[in-house]
Amino acid sequence: MAKAAQFASKLGLIAATVGSAVGLGNIWRFPAEAQANGGAAFVIIYIICVFLLGIPVMLAEFSIGRAGRSDAVGAFKNLGAGKGWWAVGALAILASYLILWFYMVVAGWTFEYLMQSITGALYEPIAGITDEDSLFSAKMHTYIQTAAGPLVNTFIVLALNLVILLFGVQKGIERMSTILMPLLFVLLAVFCVVSLTLPGAADGVAFFLHPDFSKITPAVVLNALGQSFFSLSLGMGILITYASYFPADTKLPRTAMTVSVLDLLVAIMMGLIIFPAVTTFGLENHTLEGAALVFITLPEVFTRMPGTQLWSILFFLLLLVAALTSTLSIAEVSVKFVQDRFKMRRAAACAIVLCPLFLTSGVTALSQGPLSHITICGMTIFDFLDFVATDIFLPLGSIFLCVYMGWFAPAGLLTGQLDNSNGGKPRLISRIIALNVRYVAPVLIALVFITNLL
Ligand code: PFF
Repeated sequence: MAKAAQFASKLGLIAATVGSAVGLGNIWRFPAEAQANGGAAFVIIYIICVFLLGIPVMLAEFSIGRAGRSDAVGAFKNLGAGKGWWAVGALAILASYLILWFYMVVAGWTFEYLMQSITGALYEPIAGITDEDSLFSAKMHTYIQTAAGPLVNTFIVLALNLVILLFGVQKGIERMSTILMPLLFVLLAVFCVVSLTLPGAADGVAFFLHPDFSKITPAVVLNALGQSFFSLSLGMGILITYASYFPADTKLPRTAMTVSVLDLLVAIMMGLIIFPAVTTFGLENHTLEGAALVFITLPEVFTRMPGTQLWSILFFLLLLVAALTSTLSIAEVSVKFVQDRFKMRRAAACAIVLCPLFLTSGVTALSQGPLSHITICGMTIFDFLDFVATDIFLPLGSIFLCVYMGWFAPAGLLTGQLDNSNGGKPRLISRIIALNVRYVAPVLIALVFITNLL
């Protein structure tokens, strides 16, 4: 049997895990959510969610992965979990696979926008459309509603993932992340400097962070919690899988802290990049949410800046890097599962996981256009997958994970992993985290879950 895969270096381990966490969630979800839900007030609540719940749940996942040393199902089995607990891992794998169906499509759009920035096609006028908002809006809608473009780009991104994953954990995921993540941080830093030196920067920062505690309602708190879990890649087996590649001496608390703080930093930096640019050019009334923010409003910003094309290329490169390192981690959950459960070679596992996605993500790519008439529960296929995976499976997975770790896992598993010890008296901080995972986290996440559904 081949030697079990492991991350080769501390830097690589952090780069890969941060690469998973930093994704479209940070770039187009966080800034808009923060701005709409009370600015700095939301950010404070978000930070509390990250530290109070996100990091403890992350540590529970890390512990299951590193102690179980297998895929998300096998880890539960290796830990001697009683009958049925492996289903928590199976649920996570299913959730992560469903996420790939639409995340690959969005990564494909990002690739298209990078290409159009390079060729300049994105900034060519359309006859009869004079204002920029309508121009970029028309471009985005025309593009995502056609068949060939989204399909081809989804396939390109899928093929890219396949190639990198075929190289394996160290030579594929780790090496790519070690190259791409520093690049992402350099790009972020450049954009921060440019944006914060624009004439309207102060207004932009105020627009983003203006603390408005009156906007903080229970729903907003729950929103912040959901966003933090999405952003930290919790509840879908990603961190169990990656932690199975952590060396035995990796300090889990320090790793969780580093990953979470960097993820938070990227989210806040994105806000500090987007809003000064938007206010400087008087675009604060334009769509600031989700795909429209990056595909409509930001190109408008770039047209008003000297060096339009350069900024556009760099921004969509940043977005593609963020999306790519996340898709790798989401896909690795299933690759590792197939590899370990069915004792397959990595190449076969990669093919089994990625090839069906050409069909499923292909259908999702068309669900915004030619297949938009197909709806499930009133939603397009794309929106339905997003809803089921992130609003149902993600919180459910996190709740079960905490319940397992808090109540059913072998005694001392969590504290032993946190302290890198085999018995002995756990450190106080480790005991506090264990109590949190047992009593606090599952209850609060369940509250979010139920409120969200009501
Ligand atoms: N955490 C990443 C992001 O914020 O985009 C990747 C990700 C993980 C996305 C899990 C979605 C998801 F459900």
